[in-house]
Amino acid sequence: MRTQVAIIGAGPSGLLLGALLTKAGIDNVIVEQRSADYVLGRIRAGVLEQVTVDLLDEVGVGERMHAEGLPHDGFDLCFGGQRHRIDLHGLTGKRVMVYGQTEVTRDLMDARKTSGRPTVYEGDDVSVHDFDGNKPSVRYRKDGQSQTIECDFIAGCDGFHGVCRASVPKDRIALHEKVYPFGWLGLLADVPPLSHELIYVNHDRGFALCSMRSRTRSRYYVQCSLADHVEQWSDKMFWDELRERLPADAAEHLVTGASLEKSIAPLRSFVCEPMRFGRLLLAGDAAHIVPPTGAKGLNLAATDVGYLAHGLVGHYRGDASGLEHYSARCLRRIWRAERFSWWMTSLMHNFPSNGSFDRKVQLAELDYLVNSEAASKALAENYVGLPL
Ligand code: FAD
Ligand code: PHB
Repeated sequence: MRTQVAIIGAGPSGLLLGALLTKAGIDNVIVEQRSADYVLGRIRAGVLEQVTVDLLDEVGVGERMHAEGLPHDGFDLCFGGQRHRIDLHGLTGKRVMVYGQTEVTRDLMDARKTSGRPTVYEGDDVSVHDFDGNKPSVRYRKDGQSQTIECDFIAGCDGFHGVCRASVPKDRIALHEKVYPFGWLGLLADVPPLSHELIYVNHDRGFALCSMRSRTRSRYYVQCSLADHVEQWSDKMFWDELRERLPADAAEHLVTGASLEKSIAPLRSFVCEPMRFGRLLLAGDAAHIVPPTGAKGLNLAATDVGYLAHGLVGHYRGDASGLEHYSARCLRRIWRAERFSWWMTSLMHNFPSNGSFDRKVQLAELDYLVNSEAASKALAENYVGLPL
């Protein structure tokens, strides 16, 4: 098989890149190691910045998002038992869209099916070759048969544990990493959300987040120990722990129910530099990870892919500059989001190594944040994000 761009991974990055390239008339094939149902079963992001909404509109998959997604003008920050509203729209003139990553992925998958462009699901032993030369290729096995795709470029959209970044020689890549000493236990349930906006909670027992997927489906998280296993957490234990961390007036409105999904995610900050290696270009979680506290991961994946599609379209029109600047353009935005996500994480979580001094400083910073218009505005600007 031969194509112009071989895309590894059918998460949001790979599917959105496929849609942008297809729209520009650039031939592409996606190779994904899992099944479509497995990819759709992963419950992850919930908050889309305007820039992500615009990119989804650009490829014509925004209809259901605008009909079913929930535009949010603000969120609550909660500490010391009190709620404080951050007025995103009042402070920045912008809002965010609450629409699950699962739904974004489903919309992109449906559009891909309609476009007729090939997607290989359940491709085994995917490997990438000769990306430093002029004849890159991708190999994989499907139903026991070895297959090769020859291409002009390989887009590494295969997430943090993918094969693309791992195929780059160690002396050509710099890795920057911070691992946090806790995780998030998430629970999805068909119960009405506690509030019409998200609530981020700093509590002595640890962080909690009240989010949602619709007016009838809620997504909640509590900070947990890295030693915890999800099987140890019954639904009742989860709801009891969440209730403990909420202010009394919110806790009394919490509606509980059976979980549809429960999982533990570790928290990590990670950046690889650069993001281009000859004809191999990394995008999304393959190149960087942020802790979810700032709601940036999916949005960064979308903006990487926006720059990458722009660079590839330029290349095929005879302009190499977009691809030459791809890495630097992405990394500037990535480091801003890394800083914000690290800061939000440090502000909102209970670090096992923190003493009473660190705890008091955390509370003083939160107090400053909600009482200073300049500080609230900086938070709001970072949360709603930048245009492309
Ligand atoms: P992925 O979604 O990881 O997709 C990569 C794909 O590549 C996968 O389908 C994988 O199966 C495939 N793959 C892997 N290896 C191979 C291989 N060798 N060959 C072929 N295919 C391969 N982000 C936000 O913006 N807002 C939020 O509110 C938010 N909340 C989050 C909450 C949680 C609990 C978590 C865990 C994450 C959250 N994120 C959030 C982050 C967001 O989910 C990720 O940044 C996003 O999934 C990245 O998309 P991606 O396509 O780059 O990677
Ligand atoms: C989510 O709804 O899953 C979600 C929302 C906001 C975050 C992280 C996750 O910061």
